[in-house]
Amino acid sequence: MAEETAKTAVLLEERRLFHPPKELVENSNVMQWMKKKGFKTEKEMREWCSKNYVEFWDEMAKTYADWFEPYKQVLDWKPPYAKWFVGGKVNMAYNAVDRHAKSWRRNKVAYIGVGEPLGDVRKFTYGDLYREVNKFANGLKSLGVEKGDRVSIYMPMIPELPIAMLACAKIGAIHSVVFSGFSSKAYADRVIDAESKISITVDGFWRRGKIVELKKQADEAIQDAPTVKHQIVYKRTGQDIPWNKDRDIWWHDLVKDQPAECETEQLDPEHRLFILYTSGTTGKPKGIEHAHGGYCVGVPQTLHWVFDLKEDDVWWCTADIGWITGHSYIVYGPLSLGATSIIYEGSPDYPDFGRWWSIIEEFGVNVLYTAPTAIRMFMRAGEQWPAKYNMKCLRLLGTVGEPINPEAWVWYRKNIGRDELQIMDTWWQTETGTFIGSPLPITPLKPGSCTFALPGYSMDVWDEAGKPVPPGEGGNIVILEPYPSMLRDFYKDPDRYFRTYWETYWNVRAGTYLAGDKGRRDEDGYFWIQGRIDDVIKVAGHRIGNSEVESAAVSHPKVAEAAVIGKPDPVKGEVIIVFAILREGVQESEELKKDIAKHIRETLGPVAMPEAVYFVKDVPKTRSGKIMRRVIRAKAMGQPVGDISTLANPEAVDAIPKIV
Ligand code: WTA
Repeated sequence: MAEETAKTAVLLEERRLFHPPKELVENSNVMQWMKKKGFKTEKEMREWCSKNYVEFWDEMAKTYADWFEPYKQVLDWKPPYAKWFVGGKVNMAYNAVDRHAKSWRRNKVAYIGVGEPLGDVRKFTYGDLYREVNKFANGLKSLGVEKGDRVSIYMPMIPELPIAMLACAKIGAIHSVVFSGFSSKAYADRVIDAESKISITVDGFWRRGKIVELKKQADEAIQDAPTVKHQIVYKRTGQDIPWNKDRDIWWHDLVKDQPAECETEQLDPEHRLFILYTSGTTGKPKGIEHAHGGYCVGVPQTLHWVFDLKEDDVWWCTADIGWITGHSYIVYGPLSLGATSIIYEGSPDYPDFGRWWSIIEEFGVNVLYTAPTAIRMFMRAGEQWPAKYNMKCLRLLGTVGEPINPEAWVWYRKNIGRDELQIMDTWWQTETGTFIGSPLPITPLKPGSCTFALPGYSMDVWDEAGKPVPPGEGGNIVILEPYPSMLRDFYKDPDRYFRTYWETYWNVRAGTYLAGDKGRRDEDGYFWIQGRIDDVIKVAGHRIGNSEVESAAVSHPKVAEAAVIGKPDPVKGEVIIVFAILREGVQESEELKKDIAKHIRETLGPVAMPEAVYFVKDVPKTRSGKIMRRVIRAKAMGQPVGDISTLANPEAVDAIPKIV
């Protein structure tokens, strides 16, 4: 233990700069561009691109995307709304699939689909993808799906998920993918909000050797969704499932007689590519909208520069496609670059902690992009697991989703990266669509820092009044200028869009985006992200709203009120803690605690399973009735609670138990 503490202390003092090897720098994609443009230093290059961002994105748009019709204007920025590539015609699916299928890449592998059962591997070339996407797109049309219609997708990590997404994009339908770890209730809410015509799901999928029966959950959800006319079911696990013959149709029956050609819609660049629901400050998840044009440019460009993908690389982003990381960097980014990617269905620890490393060895993965929570889980399992496999093929690493603690960073570099590989710590959000703060392969690294704003992007740290804070001081992370992949709006809720991101600094400088993270910059200008300022918990990298969990808790018949906080956790980053106030006359019991936790899990899905439930008589609130989660958290963690004199019920603070 003493040794552990000493080690940790050393890491906290970690001041080393990890310089990139010369060869990496010289051969990097970004360096080729810098040389062409005559930039001498990284700093000069980043600053020029961010300052001249319109000119920069114009060049990137011409480099990374193919346009049916060229745009007339790069940017039309009327805060808080940006329109990019005005007057052009484009389609994300054309850029991701069609153009490769028509080139020599037709026979290049786009996806290696690794199922959870050992030996279950399916490869799809760009030619295969083209055919499958076209047939499925024709299938969607045959069910009446038209440009602008919403299609909800509730599928696991199998190649048919991107096929379904691309088919929507191809015909101008808007997909709304819901993470398969969400409950039927969560799916229902999102299908209803999106008013989807179609639901796409699977009979089941594999998770730790067992079948998760997703069709059953999807059925429950769409019972309450009157707009859904059809449900398409891909046969993955093959067990018997309930069937509604007026509504359900097998994927294989739908595509059987469809032609392998389907016209790609030529779309306005602002045409919506997808809606992705994410958690925010209030209970209702918000539907973030992204656009075709911006995605065609920002996503491949950032992937090409940050992860330095080369034509023969095998890329593995371990995120779930149900979250933004998968949308951008398993589906649209790598396909757009014509890359080969892994899609892995199962969990990282099944059948044992060697599974990921065996996949890397078997398929020769060159670039690995994962999350701090996974790294910490492997740290705990022990370095003997990765040590068993030959991972010489790896040449670059990455991380995303939450701040990475220097211990995990150093472990990752040492045990996965042979003490040689650079780690791209990418800071970004569902809203931003692409990495914002991130190293490049040429950047000297500090463990735990996402380094600088990428070329073409501008970040800063501001205080509450809207003044940039000096180095070393904490404040709000802001993004100063628009960029192609930025969110366009909230689906059907522009007021909330304005309030959430733009209102805070509107009078100081209209168009300044409040990211919702706190952070600081050090003397060298490196950014350090410290976590959310709003009420969002990051559980194993998954973004969950405190208030979503609270409303799930109070939907339990015995709970009158609830307050939810995130508690730091050595593996998951944060875990969910519930303080529940029971209804009059209800007896407290350990059974009831378990029942409430189970109820929350059933309401929101396994991702939102609370770590613990505590009973309290009251929770501290403001005079306007807002639950003071910050105060509850401080008290529960045994930290100073600060000034509580303005609370409506300061005595409630005393009743919050210390939980550490
Ligand atoms: C957090 C995930 C520190 C942050 C792409 C952000 C990070 C939220 C990092 C968005 C990182 C993401 N370092 N924190 N490298 N990456 N975050 O929408 O709090 O699921 O606001 O998008 O994750 O989560 P989201």
